[in-house]
Amino acid sequence: MVEYVLDKHDRPMKDLRISVIDQCNFRCTYCMPAEIFGDDYRFMPESELLSFDEIIRLVKIFAQFGTEKVRITGGEPLMRKNMDQLVARIKQVEGIQDVAITTNAVFLVKQAKKLKEAGLDRVNISLDAIEDEVFKETNGRGIKTKPVIKGIEAAREAGLPIKINMVVKKGMNEDQILPMARYFKQTGDTLRFIEFMDVGNHNGWNMDTVVSKKEIIEQIHKEMPLEPVDPQYYGEVANRYQYEDGSAEIGVISSVTDAFCSTCTRVRLSADGHLFTCLFASVGYDIRSMLRDDEPDEAIISRLIHIWTKRDDQYSIDRKNGKPTRKKIEMSYIGG
Ligand code: GTP
Ligand code: 5AD
Ligand code: SF4
Ligand code: SF4
Repeated sequence: MVEYVLDKHDRPMKDLRISVIDQCNFRCTYCMPAEIFGDDYRFMPESELLSFDEIIRLVKIFAQFGTEKVRITGGEPLMRKNMDQLVARIKQVEGIQDVAITTNAVFLVKQAKKLKEAGLDRVNISLDAIEDEVFKETNGRGIKTKPVIKGIEAAREAGLPIKINMVVKKGMNEDQILPMARYFKQTGDTLRFIEFMDVGNHNGWNMDTVVSKKEIIEQIHKEMPLEPVDPQYYGEVANRYQYEDGSAEIGVISSVTDAFCSTCTRVRLSADGHLFTCLFASVGYDIRSMLRDDEPDEAIISRLIHIWTKRDDQYSIDRKNGKPTRKKIEMSYIGG
């Protein structure tokens, strides 16, 4: 029996989200705005990124503490070379049951089959609009939906279960809620609407730009009746619904209007090996230097226990209660 490490709110240290690269081929306005992440932006050089060996060493340590789920994120994780090799190695770690990737899908056309063969369990794909004119604006690079749709099709053909993530922001794409719902109802893929969050320091967030879970569900339910579905696992971030005709499911991730911090068991590892106990943390803990200084597993383990047992984060609850915000880490660095 695994003994979980508990934080100050009795939340076990469990799901591991690993960012493998801070670069992305998109410039989504709410995540990596082109004005900030321009040609002279300094991304991490390769030497700063955790190597696959370093990542695997950490995954093995986390698995000893009961981690079963690993999610690979970025930036755009598929911009890192040989991701199929990393997936295969993570899958071989004893105790790891579920390995997933969050991606914008463009590179899936080339990589979906290899990733599936390497043992990848599923993919979550970001797509914020089904109409080109809107999507070209949201991704900040003038890219049409076709390369993403082709990536989705490649994942489907490879046999990977798919969820679609759509960030909804007022003035950006709220007119795409129904067209996206209609499209993915017909393909049968689960579409998840994400309330726009105040991650990072540059995305111009304020409460007026948030379209709430309630508004999203009401809009869809009017045209395509929905019924709630029970969560699939403890602490699932999305509230799930299915169409009454049984055609597909949708989800809403409501970190702003209905925070889910009380069940948050997620540990985040940045591409350069810093550990974050919350998506909205202002500081990370440098684990890479311990790896590179050849510290023994015991030393790393006692550091992790120390960090987690004093974890008190519940940013989304604090935001709701009007607690003032501090400087935060960028989403492309910490991996969403
Ligand atoms: P599943 O295992 O498929 O349920 O994945 P997931 O929903 O946990 O992961 P994904 O990378 O698809 O994340 C979807 C959205 O949920 C993103 O916008 C994430 O930033 C957001 N999200 C995931 N975990 C957290 C969290 O701990 N806190 C907050 N505030 N948002 C989160
Ligand atoms: N608010 C909500 N979701 C966001 N994502 C990136 N930035 C934000 C934000 N400010 C989403 C991406 C991706 C997931 C990992 O996080 O679209 O689906
Ligand atoms: Fe890239 Fe995803 Fe950020 Fe868009 S949201 S810029 S696809 S990392
Ligand atoms: Fe977890 Fe922080 Fe998100 Fe709350 S805001 S659910 S504590 S990552």
